[in-house]
Amino acid sequence: MKRFFVTTPIFYVNAKPHLGHAFTTILADAMTRFHRLMGEDAFFLTGTDEHGDKIAKASEEAGQSPKEYADQISGLFRALGPMLGAKPDHFIRTTDPEHIKTVQKVLQKVYETGDIYFGEYGGHYCFGCERFYTEKELVDGMCPDHKTRPEYIAEKNYFFRMSKYQAWLIEYINQNPDFIRPARYRNEVLSLLESGALEDLCISRPKSRLTWGIELPFDQDFVCYVWFDALLNYVSALNYPRGDKFKKFWPANHIVAKDILKPHAVFWPTMLKAAGIAPYQSLNVHGYWLVRDTKMSKSLGNVVEPKQMVDAYGTSAFRYFLLREMAFGSDASFTEEALVGRLNADLANDLGNLFNRVLAMTHKYFEGKVPSPAAESEEDAELKRLGRDAMRNFQGHFAEFRTARALESLWELVRALNKYIDTTAPWTLFKNKDKARLGTVMYMLLEHMRKIAVHLWPVMPEASVKMLEQLGCCFDLDKVNLAKEPEVWGLLDSGLTVLQSSNLFPRVEVPEPAPPAVVEAEAPKAKAKTKAQDGEPKKKAAPKAPEAPVGPAESIEFADFQKLDLRVGTVLSAAKHPDADKLLVVQVALGEPEPRQIVAGLADRFSPDDLVGKQVVVVANLAPRKLRGLMSQGMILVAKDAEVTRLLTAAGTVDDGGKVA
Ligand code: MSP
Repeated sequence: MKRFFVTTPIFYVNAKPHLGHAFTTILADAMTRFHRLMGEDAFFLTGTDEHGDKIAKASEEAGQSPKEYADQISGLFRALGPMLGAKPDHFIRTTDPEHIKTVQKVLQKVYETGDIYFGEYGGHYCFGCERFYTEKELVDGMCPDHKTRPEYIAEKNYFFRMSKYQAWLIEYINQNPDFIRPARYRNEVLSLLESGALEDLCISRPKSRLTWGIELPFDQDFVCYVWFDALLNYVSALNYPRGDKFKKFWPANHIVAKDILKPHAVFWPTMLKAAGIAPYQSLNVHGYWLVRDTKMSKSLGNVVEPKQMVDAYGTSAFRYFLLREMAFGSDASFTEEALVGRLNADLANDLGNLFNRVLAMTHKYFEGKVPSPAAESEEDAELKRLGRDAMRNFQGHFAEFRTARALESLWELVRALNKYIDTTAPWTLFKNKDKARLGTVMYMLLEHMRKIAVHLWPVMPEASVKMLEQLGCCFDLDKVNLAKEPEVWGLLDSGLTVLQSSNLFPRVEVPEPAPPAVVEAEAPKAKAKTKAQDGEPKKKAAPKAPEAPVGPAESIEFADFQKLDLRVGTVLSAAKHPDADKLLVVQVALGEPEPRQIVAGLADRFSPDDLVGKQVVVVANLAPRKLRGLMSQGMILVAKDAEVTRLLTAAGTVDDGGKVA
């Protein structure tokens, strides 16, 4: 029996699950189900990454111990799978004792082979990324990701001799074209590896600086670097080295987004090589979900919560949209209008209509029973050829993680069936009492619909099972052989009773255009949706007419004032906007995990140095917008009269994030 082991990244527990985590989880679940349908033994692993600076800091801010904090957020990630109709076979946490033991075993092994050594290193350390940057990698002296100035740290640490495996890795990637896919990421990794000498990897942190990690087995004064610890989850979850699961399922097919390409494409294979473990099977890299073409981030307030989408549209529709919309490897933009557009076009119009029409006709012409087919015409043979191709293409693309193209292929069959109804005109055959031809036509449709429903199980498991039930069958994984579906014919038994109609994919209203950023807390209220069953979105409630304002036109209500989120923050850095003389690009610490970037029209009154180190008052909940190409996430307030402009600040020092009330 063929084996298929698929993993998601293990997610950091410093934030709640969002659309991005949901997508990777859904993709991994869909791949698992697909391989199971193909008759393989599949294993799906996900979990949480719980050590390191990021988590230590987040727990401190939450006023909890790191473990308490991790327990809480890890629970949210554990609940993510079931909420999305996904069924991981194992959920690993890097705080699991078994994982800790495995990490220490591997560290000891690599240390003993001489591939871990002790040395001194000075570098620019970004706490957000938890890594050192070289001078060359910084952009204007700032971390390219966090846009903050890293701290220069010189200290003694342990290093993994990653450089030793550079030539081997280049050779391995060249010889195994599917090792990293799609090709653009493979090329990116190759050009990174070929652009210069690979540095050794610093794999420890002194306990004087960080204690929240796995202790090095050969030096109690250090903990393990979080990535070295986290990557090993992929083998510790299988009880490496002696576990049956490891023997059965390794090597893995990893799914990650492009953000963590380097650790997976460079650190991980070289770590495996040094530890004497076979390389993974494939690294499958998907793009980023943007929201209205803007990066999703907590500070921008545009984070899409999967639960809200599932509650509004059902798991099947949400999964279908994500897997259909994102071309493998490319970024995709999420908007509710796009989601609704797809549901209406693909699910309600194409698939839903097909089911409704055919089920209703089966009832009208054959008392709800699947008829027996008679001789097939050339048109039928043509349809079968098209169906075969569509299913083969679906399977070929799906196996290579190209879910969007796979679904596009399957929809060629869905649309062809709708067309076939129009050209064969069963109502005319019925009128003409051509029962034999009518039976063949209806069987043609129903058997193809069964095939479509089976193919959709990886994408929309719940809806697929319901579609099959509507056709009078029940889903039995052990009896399906997806690989054979394009070739076999006639598995739908004549005489089965089908449902009278299908309500699986009703049309959905297009939501009112959302504000530029979906504010997390407001999203569900604003959309006024009622909870829907899977695949059965309910109509939205009519919006209430606004009440007439009371009081003078110029005044505002206290509630209006309360809408403003005014906060005190410290200016970390400020620079002239590269494309606008009047603007300054300012980074302000507001007590959030990452500083805010604010583009302020202050350049004619303040120099960057006037601002750095000062505390300012910020409108923290202003809708983010781009100013001359740079995102601005708030507004800095000033006080001014006819002559002078002064920064608005508190009379004494206030903690960053302190509220102006
Ligand atoms: N803990 C590390 C991974 C260690 S794996 C050994 C980490 N965690 S994370 O919480 O930041 O998760 C990153 C992953 O979440 C991405 O690689 C991707 O799978 C998913 N996504 C997070 N944001 C995303 C988007 N906006 N779009 C698509 N997926 C993204 O990195």
